Amino acid sequence: FEPTYNFPTTNIISPFPPPPVNTIDWSNVGFRVREVALHYSVHTKKWTPPQFVADPYIRIHGMAPALNYGQQAYEGRKPSARPEYISCPPVPVEHFVNAVKATVSLNAEYVPPHETGAARYIRPQIYGSSGQLGLSPPEEYMFCVYVLPTGVYHGTHPVDALILDDFDRAAPNGTGSAKVGGNYAPVLRWSDKARTEGYGITLHLNSATHSEVDEFSTSGFIGALVDGDNVTLVVPDSKNVIKSVTADSITDIGKSFGWNLERRSIKYTELPNFSEVMAAGTTAALVPIRTISRCIDPSSPDSISAAVKQHPRLSSDKQAEKVNYIEESQEDAGPVCLKLLTQLKAIQLGKAKDEFGWCAPV
Ligand code: COI
Repeated sequence: FEPTYNFPTTNIISPFPPPPVNTIDWSNVGFRVREVALHYSVHTKKWTPPQFVADPYIRIHGMAPALNYGQQAYEGRKPSARPEYISCPPVPVEHFVNAVKATVSLNAEYVPPHETGAARYIRPQIYGSSGQLGLSPPEEYMFCVYVLPTGVYHGTHPVDALILDDFDRAAPNGTGSAKVGGNYAPVLRWSDKARTEGYGITLHLNSATHSEVDEFSTSGFIGALVDGDNVTLVVPDSKNVIKSVTADSITDIGKSFGWNLERRSIKYTELPNFSEVMAAGTTAALVPIRTISRCIDPSSPDSISAAVKQHPRLSSDKQAEKVNYIEESQEDAGPVCLKLLTQLKAIQLGKAKDEFGWCAPV
């Protein structure tokens, strides 16, 4: 059934758009949660009229399946969540888009100034929110939209990646492709540990065999094969990767440059063949990967060193093997990543023509 109420069509701020607030250092936004003016929330027992509330805290039942059984999903900017994975009712697309637009425009003064490189993040969420002990869908759900100004998640400098072999993010036939909290919370202790060892990002292989690339813990995997002027972007077609609007935008931009796109299984042993590897995600944008390391015994049949002897990008010792994409001395991304990122930013900021029809006025 469709909601029967109207979203606000006039903005409370005049003139519109207002200048950015001066309570934020826009050149140093970072990645912590900052409070904005209003959040949007609506209960879906019967799509109740939306409320725009200043209080960022939500009141849901302590026995809500969202809190007890992980019945929640969220999005980073695009309505591609598949709530059916967790038995939440799908939010009607028009309702979703209107909610996002209204929340964005009611917080217009928190849109960062162009030149700062900071971004505005949009986080729609849905939860099972009424009290419920049994393991069955509850009566009520809550749909909310938060917006917040952010810096760039991993920064734009090359980052070292570590393959997580001790922990599987997704079961082979599980919910690995769903944008649900269960794909993130269990990873925290592993990514924290990796960070203390100097790895800025963690990479998951497929859980069934640990022989194919799935995705980074925060973002999608894109590899670039470069042969002279011939560039091919390769992305995993694993059923356990989350569909990413940013990864899709990047590959569309690549196609507009005349580059090839391959969506296929990527073997772990292929990693040294890529000239560049990037992590693509909404908060991450496009992160150049400097190295990918894996703790492994090189005599194992899965090891790169066993499969690809003396590849120029590869180094290994008894404990680890490492593929090197960007030299230690180089602070910039490779040319493929730079070209893609420059065009993505130019379209986002309205400096390049949006030939894809991605930009929507608010
Ligand atoms: C996003 O990029 O939108 C995400 O949800 C990733 C999250 C780890 C920040």
